Amino acid sequence: MPAPIAVKPLKKRIAIFASGSGSNAQKIMEHFKNSKLAEVALILTNNSEAFVLQRADNFEIPTHIFNRKEFYESDRIIRLLESLNVDLVVLAGFLWLVPQNLIAAFPNKIINIHPALLPNYGGKGMYGDHIHRAVLAAREKETGITIHFVNENFDEGEMIQQFRFKIELKDELENIRFKIQQLEHQHFPKVIESLVKKMN
Ligand code: GAR
Repeated sequence: MPAPIAVKPLKKRIAIFASGSGSNAQKIMEHFKNSKLAEVALILTNNSEAFVLQRADNFEIPTHIFNRKEFYESDRIIRLLESLNVDLVVLAGFLWLVPQNLIAAFPNKIINIHPALLPNYGGKGMYGDHIHRAVLAAREKETGITIHFVNENFDEGEMIQQFRFKIELKDELENIRFKIQQLEHQHFPKVIESLVKKMN
């Protein structure tokens, strides 16, 4: 009998949407740079000035810049993701609502990170410092991050995981912003990895 041929499992392919700095995208690219499980196949942005484009270049990962018309009135992005065999779409600081056709093309395969403990402090206009200011103004005792599946409404899809910390009396906007970012960088790549493992 001929010896069985060892089949190398294909890596899962991740596409990241980001609108700005892309520090989370950076952590994800770092995490999967030498991974056997998955690789970042593409970075997409609606903002041609976004620093995430520079970060992608540093990792030699292809990028795609798109406008509203392409995103909301065509299937081009879906076709692009399908042509690259993308398995998982990750929103990492992406601020536009995801259209229904994209959600339908990738059912339960689009995830988002949100810098608050959803269902509180979510929805349109709730991003970055707007959230942290609202959290402080309400004298919340804790805050954190939520990683969740994406549906057709802002910040409403099924929750995957939350991570939280206590707000100290001395905490101001800067500390909250910093702690949230630390939490995101620490956990987001690992949560993505555990999702990827479940896809195998
Ligand atoms: C992150 O804090 C992310 O949670 C938030 O944007 C930031 C992007 O930072 N996303 C939202 O507020 C979505 N509603 P980054 O560009 O440095 O990764």
